[in-house]
Amino acid sequence: MSEYLLEMRAIVKDFAGVKALDGIDLAVRAGECVGLCGENGAGKSTLMKVLSAVYPHGTWSGRILWEGRELQARSIRETEAAGIVIIHQELMLVPHLSVTENIFLGNEITNAFGMLDYEAMHRRAAALMAELRMPQVNVALPVSQYGGGHQQLIEIAKALNKQARLLILDEPTSSLTRAETEVLLDILRELKKKGVASVLISHKLEEIEAVCDTITVIRDGRHIGTRPMGELSVEQIIAMMVGREITELFPREPHAIGEVIFEARHVTCYDPDNPARKRVDDVSFALRRGEILGVAGLVGAGRTEMAMAIFGAYPGRSTLELWMEGRRLSVRSPQEAVAAGICLVPEDRKRHGIVPLMGVGHNITLSVLSAHARHGVVDSVGELRVIDRMIERMRIKTASSLLPIRGLSGGNQQKAVLAKMLQPAPRVLILDEPTRGVDVGAKYEIYKLMMAFVKEGMSILMISSELPELLGVADRVIVIGEGRLRGDFVNDGLSQEAVMAAAIGQTETPPAARAD
Ligand SMILES: Nc1ncnc2c1ncn2[C@@H]1O[C@H](COP(=O)(O)OP(=O)(O)OP(=O)(O)O)[C@@H](O)[C@H]1O
Ligand SMILES: [Mg+2]
Repeated sequence: MSEYLLEMRAIVKDFAGVKALDGIDLAVRAGECVGLCGENGAGKSTLMKVLSAVYPHGTWSGRILWEGRELQARSIRETEAAGIVIIHQELMLVPHLSVTENIFLGNEITNAFGMLDYEAMHRRAAALMAELRMPQVNVALPVSQYGGGHQQLIEIAKALNKQARLLILDEPTSSLTRAETEVLLDILRELKKKGVASVLISHKLEEIEAVCDTITVIRDGRHIGTRPMGELSVEQIIAMMVGREITELFPREPHAIGEVIFEARHVTCYDPDNPARKRVDDVSFALRRGEILGVAGLVGAGRTEMAMAIFGAYPGRSTLELWMEGRRLSVRSPQEAVAAGICLVPEDRKRHGIVPLMGVGHNITLSVLSAHARHGVVDSVGELRVIDRMIERMRIKTASSLLPIRGLSGGNQQKAVLAKMLQPAPRVLILDEPTRGVDVGAKYEIYKLMMAFVKEGMSILMISSELPELLGVADRVIVIGEGRLRGDFVNDGLSQEAVMAAAIGQTETPPAARAD
């Protein structure tokens, strides 16, 4: 018997002649947690889709040995029956189905009469919620009632319910808070004790370091190395991933901060499903020219809702006043926001950010097609020039700007969305979790771009759940907790602890509503 539960050997997978995987090996022992690391587009998700038969046997070459025997699965059903369960990078929940229905989809419990046993399913679902420390979730409600972080944990509950022997987690923590991430990491540790193996893909290397026993690094579809975690530092993993040393993570460059240019006053958002409840409660802030204003807070604190309301895209009722250079703005739709000089790069790129079937290039110019149209005819040469410049500037990895954007890796889709929003050169740019799912090298590029923009006089409002990032790039940080403004700090040696304390409501500092 082989010492490995799983062995993937010399896997090759290409998409229309482009090699996404070029002879990759991966081995996992029972009860082992393997970290799979690599830059955006390296081939991590593709390798896991080969393993779980999202790409069935016959659509790739190489061998998969499961408990020493050849596995030639043609569907996810077959790999799940073998005990291989994947949690995809993008959420796969059905929004209008209940939490319970989602968890048991295709895996329902029936009673002695062959009828669906809702009571048993609800009970099991509630137990899973308790295990994931979300006892407040009502499993009978549709999953659309819950935010990104909760949905991610519901997806994890669904996988845990399937009795996996090998659990694949493709960037499971990208929308989780630190506390939620800790819960997940604890669960991975418990699974290891039970002999359940896992493959964890994450761009947050401290998570990899915290739970993985072994690291496999891939780059451009090739296997770069496999080592015990104990032999590698985070710096060494980064160097293996990108093929060079990255010494500085946050390229903070000096830039002039001018007068107040934009103000949002008394932003209040009512819950679309429960109009008596305020998701955002009377938040005011000012943004100066050339300033990067960070917005910290726990997931669910109301930051995304606030950004959507400012952009005219909040789905429920909201009241607010917006001022640009001392003039009151009227913004009732994203079109009006863009016309007023405000752009938003949304958090959920799948829902709001991209048109999946359209080419990468068209996705970039979508918001400004009118700028390329003369007498109603799209100036395609001009458009192509803009597209190629952005693809190069953002280092978007795509074989051609004509390929559908859904074929790009997650991180490269994020860059394409960013590129698209930057086309009208806004005065105020709102970035909601701009580096989610983006690799270290590309993060650095995004920060560099932000620095270049503020030097040109743009002002940036940056929502981020990654405190090191906020403290690494923001000039000032406001903190939102339970829909209220809980802090306003100049980022001059600001500590993570101070921001966290404000986020959970432990400080008495009266928030400054205005910067001046
Ligand atoms: N359906 C597809 N059609 C065409 N090309 C694809 C498709 N899926 C993936 N690719 C290409 O294969 C390569 C590997 O993509 P993959 O999604 O596996 O990357 P990844 O390592 O998971 O990156 P990320 O960290 O950004 O999620 C990329 O160059 C991508 O553009
Ligand atoms: Mg991926």
